[in-house]
Amino acid sequence: MKIAIDGPAGAGKSTIALLVAKRLGLRYLDTGAMYRAVTLQALRTDTACDNGRTLVDMLTKTDLVIEFELETGRNLVYINGENVTEAIRKPEVTGNVSLVSSHAELRELIVAMQQEIARPGRIVMDGRDIGTVVMPDAQWKFFLWATVEERALRRQKQLAEAGFKVDLAELEEQIRQRDHFDSHREVSPLRKAEDAIEVDTTNLTIPEVVDSLLRWIRGGSPDV
Ligand code: DC
Repeated sequence: MKIAIDGPAGAGKSTIALLVAKRLGLRYLDTGAMYRAVTLQALRTDTACDNGRTLVDMLTKTDLVIEFELETGRNLVYINGENVTEAIRKPEVTGNVSLVSSHAELRELIVAMQQEIARPGRIVMDGRDIGTVVMPDAQWKFFLWATVEERALRRQKQLAEAGFKVDLAELEEQIRQRDHFDSHREVSPLRKAEDAIEVDTTNLTIPEVVDSLLRWIRGGSPDV
């Protein structure tokens, strides 16, 4: 069983993917976390984010490990033995990750790592190119989206909970820019796989989206 969940930033992919994985007893991989880890390491080592070759060189000298936390199913990310699970969510990383993830040489390496993790199956992966490139053989492919306004509101709420007050218009602009960059890059741009099921999450709660995906999956294979 392989399940691919793609979609733009802030559509709720990682929350939904983790919950679906837990309900079905599958592993979960947040592929964006890998690009974020590379970005964090590039910033820390003063490696240029606009050069794919030097990023690949840096990555080959870096020990990047993704662990699956047993009770929560969450992904824990380690760089050279240091737990960077929280650090990869920092705004400086978010601001540079679209550029870092746009290089073909780097994607080739990271996609190969993701395919290796996917090989034994029993996995839910979320990202931008999972249904199209990483797991084109997935039995289930979902494309989650929501309006820019709704995604900005969700992000604002998340930041407020973490103690940050950010202007809504500013967040909408950042999301628009990231959408544009992620869907217009030359290599593996964000796009819906032809055989993916599109789910508009704008007016749905998290449990409603999870139930909707599980209904599709259970409807297609009664043994899950
Ligand atoms: O899902 P996220 O916001 O953590 O992803 C961070 C960035 O990584 C996002 O701007 C696009 C990129 N990404 C990608 O290009 N391919 C993936 N499979 C996952 C993420």
